[in-house]
Amino acid sequence: MDLNLKGKTAIVTGGGSGLGAAVCELFAQEGANVIINYIVDEAGTFKFADYLSDKYGTSCIPLYGDITKAEDIDNIIERAHDFYGRIDILVNNAGVWPTRFVKDMPDEEWNRIIEINLTGTFLFSKRVVNYWLSRRARGKIINIVSQAAFHGSTSGHAHYAAAKGGVVTFTISLAREVAPFGINVTAVAPGMMRTPMSSEALSDREDAYLERIPLRRIAEPREIAYTIAFLASDKADYITGATIDVTGGMLMR
Ligand SMILES: NC(=O)c1ccc[n+]([C@@H]2O[C@H](COP(=O)([O-])OP(=O)(O)OC[C@H]3O[C@@H](n4cnc5c(N)ncnc54)[C@H](O)[C@@H]3O)[C@@H](O)[C@H]2O)c1
Repeated sequence: MDLNLKGKTAIVTGGGSGLGAAVCELFAQEGANVIINYIVDEAGTFKFADYLSDKYGTSCIPLYGDITKAEDIDNIIERAHDFYGRIDILVNNAGVWPTRFVKDMPDEEWNRIIEINLTGTFLFSKRVVNYWLSRRARGKIINIVSQAAFHGSTSGHAHYAAAKGGVVTFTISLAREVAPFGINVTAVAPGMMRTPMSSEALSDREDAYLERIPLRRIAEPREIAYTIAFLASDKADYITGATIDVTGGMLMR
């Protein structure tokens, strides 16, 4: 099946590592141009962008930007348009997952986690939607959530779970608002993937996670990226407002 992503432009937030990097690679492999947004590891992200461009013959560009800063997002959208003349796909992937039980959680930490995982998704989505509306263009937004959005946290991530739950309902609300304009908004809920975010938790308690996963293994990021690429494609034109679970059965609902 040809996903028909050739020549399209995708922005992937937090695209320099983990799931974001797997999504960037799959998009590049499918012939899309990719804006790899990053906030850390500038040198590594530039190398990664060159590697993708050389390997797949598409154009992959790293762009710095903090998704909690409106001016950074405006800059990314402006530069993406200058480079490619179009934006077709936004993957709101950037996120953080600190561990802290509620009783010990500084108010500032709560606010910061909501700001990155929930408000950042709103700030970026709103701006890309306005970009599309002003050009009468169609587009696809894919938000990365988590099984925790439905289960709640089991190990000290109440702020994270609350933020991801918020992104699920934001996805539904925005999907309804923009459906008349040919803009689809969906979400993907991973369970446990092997990425920098989960490495400490997995080294502490991989067996405990495996017990909760009927398929009895931790996902490689690429296994989640396949669903994201599908949702970004015209093969998913009839899907909007949905959250697709890719959890090895960790979440069944
Ligand atoms: N790893 C897992 O098991 C797992 C499970 C469920 C959901 N997720 C979700 O998958 C997504 C990707 O996470 P990952 O596992 O690849 O971890 P990761 O830490 O490799 O990736 C997260 C990326 O977001 C970036 N980021 C953080 N704050 C940012 C900001 N303010 N602005 C721009 N970028 C920022 C980080 O620098 C990093 O590159 C996240 O939304 C995460 O919540 C991960």
